[in-house]
Order: sequence, then structure tokens, then C-alpha cells
Amino acid sequence: MFKSSWLPLAPALGEVLLLNKASNAERRQLVVGNWKMNGNLQQNAALLAKVAAGWQGEHNADVVICPPFPYLMHTNSLLSGSSVLLGAQTVSENDQGAYTGEISCPMLADLNCKFVIIGHNERRRMQGETDEQVARQFVAVHRAGLIPILCVGESLKDREQGRQLETISRQLNAVFAHTGKDVFKNAVLAYEPVWAVGTGKTATPEQAEEVHRFMRAQLGGLASEVRILYGGSVKSHNAQQLFALPDIDGALLGGASLDADEFLAICKAAD
Ligand code: PGA
Repeated sequence: MFKSSWLPLAPALGEVLLLNKASNAERRQLVVGNWKMNGNLQQNAALLAKVAAGWQGEHNADVVICPPFPYLMHTNSLLSGSSVLLGAQTVSENDQGAYTGEISCPMLADLNCKFVIIGHNERRRMQGETDEQVARQFVAVHRAGLIPILCVGESLKDREQGRQLETISRQLNAVFAHTGKDVFKNAVLAYEPVWAVGTGKTATPEQAEEVHRFMRAQLGGLASEVRILYGGSVKSHNAQQLFALPDIDGALLGGASLDADEFLAICKAAD
């Protein structure tokens, strides 16, 4: 499935989007499975065998799986021959050195990772990642030639106070301040309302579309080119309705990516 946005076409930049075979005005749908801290060698092998068999050959949507770090190589080898791409769940802002326990972008590139999720709300909340740190991670991912999937989203309190757009704007501007907007032509955004992640509560189509449209407008001249995913309790029963919205270009999945049938059903809805 390809999407054209409601915004006027951006000027041709003469640059083909990495992994995006569509024209500037059209965006390939993207489904990203974030396994979080789940799985083991045996479970992963069973899950990946089904996913790899179900996603072979040419498609109109891109599919990415982000396993925990220790399983990147195993996942990479089990996905070979399929059209599923590899991603990571977070990364250090530093490229190498004395940073015990950290993983760098060059290491991820070495392992065939193409995408890196950054700024996921679980890391912002539980690991205390700040807007500034997320911005530096974005820079590192971009420098390594990988594609950042930058997550933004408001808390329940922000939403109840009607401050969702203010929060999103703050999170986006922290990155724009480091990079400018041009680098977003090789980036993906994800809107994940914190209150919808892992809760079974999905944003209504109106709530999601309001924020996606706002985010697109923040991108200026690149507005019609950048893929913006929705994340937060996306399942096979609600994916179709979300994907039909003009400014939603796919999904970032947590729970649904751990079940091969559910995951593939959502990938097919995006295709
Ligand atoms: P969920 O998680 O699909 O389980 O709500 C989404 C995410 O954390 O990206």
C-alpha cells in the first residue's frame, strides 16, 4: 500500500529514499516489530521460521524485526532469504570507547541492522533518556547510515490536559535543533501515545490522525516524504482502520510482533 499525503508535494530532491521505492509523493507502508525483552533461542527460531516463510519476495510494504541485542545475529541468519529487515531497539550515542554495557551504531551496522528505534517511551521513562540524549542518538544513527525510528508521544496526563501537541513538538524540536530537518528524509517517525502502549487502549482514528497530521506539518518541505508510524496496542483487528488514515504509514508493534500469525496479518494489512 502506498500513501500520498494531503500536503502539497515537496520539491523533488533528486535523491531516492533509502528502502523507499515510491516517488516523493508516495510512501511505502512500514511495519516494525519491537520484541522488547522477550524471547529465547528456541522461541525466536520458531517465530522467525513462520515470519520468514510468510514474508518472501516482493511486497508493497517493508517489514522490520527488532529483537533484543543478544539475538541480532541469530535473527539475521534466520531471516536470510526472506524480505524481513533487521533493526535494533536502542543504541548508544557514542561510536566506541569505554562505555560498559553499551552497543554502538557501527556494531549494529556490522550485524546487518538497517533500522534503530530511538526515544521509545519505555526508555525515556525507565532509563531516564532525555530529549537531548535522544537527539544525540539520532545523530549517531544517521552518521552510521542507519535509519532512525524516532518515537514521540504524550503521557496520559498530557492528553488529559490537552497538551499532546505541545509534548510532541518539544520532542521533535529537540532533534531538529541538533540536525535540522533535511536529515529526516532518511528517517522514520513513530507516534506512540504512552497511555496506549501495552495497555490494549488504542488511540481513536481521530486522535491518531490529529497528531500524525501535526507531525507531518512540522517536517516542512519533507512533509509528504517521511513515513510516520502509529504505535500503541495495534492488533490485526484494528490495523486496517489505522492504515487507511491518510497520514499513518504503518505501525510500530510490541505485543503483536510476538505472535507470527498476528504479526503477518498486520503486515498483510499494510501491503
Ligand atoms: P504494544 O507496544 O503494541 O504492545 O502496545 C508498542 C510499542 O511499544 O512500540
